[in-house]
Amino acid sequence: MTVHFIGAGPGAPDLLTLRGRDLIASAPVCLYAGSLVPPGVLDHCPPDARIVNTAPLSLDEIIAEIAAAHDAGLDVARLHSGDLSVWSAMGEQLRRLRALNIPYDVTPGVPAFAAAAATLETELTLPGLAQSVVLTRTSGRASQMPPGETLANFAATGATLAIHLSIHVLARVVQELAPHYGPACPVAVVWRASWPDERVLRGTLGTIEAAMDGAISRTALILVGPALAGEGFDESRLYAGDYDRRYRPVGPSPRFPEAQ
Ligand SMILES: C[S@@+](CC[C@H](N)C(=O)[O-])C[C@H]1O[C@@H](n2cnc3c(N)ncnc32)[C@H](O)[C@@H]1O
Repeated sequence: MTVHFIGAGPGAPDLLTLRGRDLIASAPVCLYAGSLVPPGVLDHCPPDARIVNTAPLSLDEIIAEIAAAHDAGLDVARLHSGDLSVWSAMGEQLRRLRALNIPYDVTPGVPAFAAAAATLETELTLPGLAQSVVLTRTSGRASQMPPGETLANFAATGATLAIHLSIHVLARVVQELAPHYGPACPVAVVWRASWPDERVLRGTLGTIEAAMDGAISRTALILVGPALAGEGFDESRLYAGDYDRRYRPVGPSPRFPEAQ
């Protein structure tokens, strides 16, 4: 018996890995975080599977479901939205399972920031503008930010910021970032990326608040940084005609002659 933690992706049911789909299809028990996991993903469950929405359950109740499946020798598919490496609450479940000697494995999923970038048809790391992406959030009722992880600290780097769980405090986000990036810095808000009703608002730190409408709440990402402009960047040296590299040696004495 194994508990398969599976990243269920950002919303579109076909943004699920083949491995995730096959594990869901083989597990007689499926626990899913109902607030965000797309219903279409559950269509892969076996017809007679026990399917439990864990949104209203406590951690103790979730672990009790898993322990009952373990006692019965039944595999569990444990679904969380996006990828499991960020804001999935997987860590605390794994710690409990280790204490109970219940085996588990982890299958990655498409994270929301990647889905939002795809919606925007944007590369978040454009040469000369930004070479880092900071996945962050602001403090919420459930989780406080550690003292060093302020928006101002991240903004001081000039990196592209992908700010989660914060659309309800957009005004504060703008206020903290504007001194670093300037009011003309591009911003995109992507709501329900990859869902059929996804929406995109584009603006700058100076205009994005006025562009907001009340329908956009909760499942939205705020992307900020010069790379969001999608222009004014350098071409990558990797594909420059005179760039000598392993798979395309250039000149009379290439750096990787053995590759020829
Ligand atoms: C609890 S976190 C889950 C993050 C998820 N584990 C991931 O890999 O993206 C929920 C936050 O992720 C963002 N989010 C999740 N799905 C999204 C989507 N489809 N479009 C835009 N933002 C999304 C929102 O900021 C939302 O408040």
